[in-house]
Amino acid sequence: MDVLRRLFDESSYTVVFTGAGMSTEAGLPDFRSASTGLWNNIDPMELASTDAMYNNREAFIDFYRYRVESLRACTPHKGHEILAKWGREGKVKSIITQNVDGFHHLAGSESVAELHGTLRTCHCNDCRRRYPIDNFMELGTSCECCGFLRPSVVLFGEELPEDAFIQAEREAKKADLFVAIGSSLTVSPANLFPQIAKQAGAKLVIINIEKTGLDHLADLIITNEKIGSILQQLE
Ligand code: APR
Repeated sequence: MDVLRRLFDESSYTVVFTGAGMSTEAGLPDFRSASTGLWNNIDPMELASTDAMYNNREAFIDFYRYRVESLRACTPHKGHEILAKWGREGKVKSIITQNVDGFHHLAGSESVAELHGTLRTCHCNDCRRRYPIDNFMELGTSCECCGFLRPSVVLFGEELPEDAFIQAEREAKKADLFVAIGSSLTVSPANLFPQIAKQAGAKLVIINIEKTGLDHLADLIITNEKIGSILQQLE
């Protein structure tokens, strides 16, 4: 922990990158944990892809309504609050997240690039008009104009939102310390950003209780403790 503390102290531009492991201590399952990952029992292509949205629509709607209900039962944990505090103090310049739970915003973080969108809103699949997620949950799934209301998350088979991608790329290139927290780092193109940071000269720290796809690039790997405990020791 002393090495990580020193890396933070020596850094002038720290960027934090988070995955679903950042929210498990808030009560949300991640996707690939050996024991509890959501994709251990669900094929994401059947429920979280564009093909599912068009050809398996009822199951798609049920799946995302279930995920929104799960989200409503949870709140950001201490780790989210610490990252927000570090953002206010300038210790962390920005967050790049794969998570769609909105917990970084709810905890008070301001500079957050949501690579995979958000479950906090929905939008018309045709005209792109955005609505509160309640419209998807309670008011049916038709837009006032024409099309199908769907959650504003990036489905398998869709491109990442351009503004988030550009923001994440800019931040990764500016980082002198890039801390990847709670991600298996197996999903592209999100897992490009730790690599972009590393190529631009940043030190790469990976905090994850299981091996990740980019451990071979890390300057420091912390696997023996949970995220919440680690962040509280550094607070
Ligand atoms: N502390 C430390 N590590 C944790 C904790 C914790 N409390 N909880 C879970 N982890 C680790 C798991 O061991 C796992 O390796 O977090 C990692 C989460 O990895 P994934 O479940 O693959 O989640 P993520 O990397 O965010 O997935 C990327 O895949 O399905 C898509 O769109 C989805 O955004 C998601 C993307």
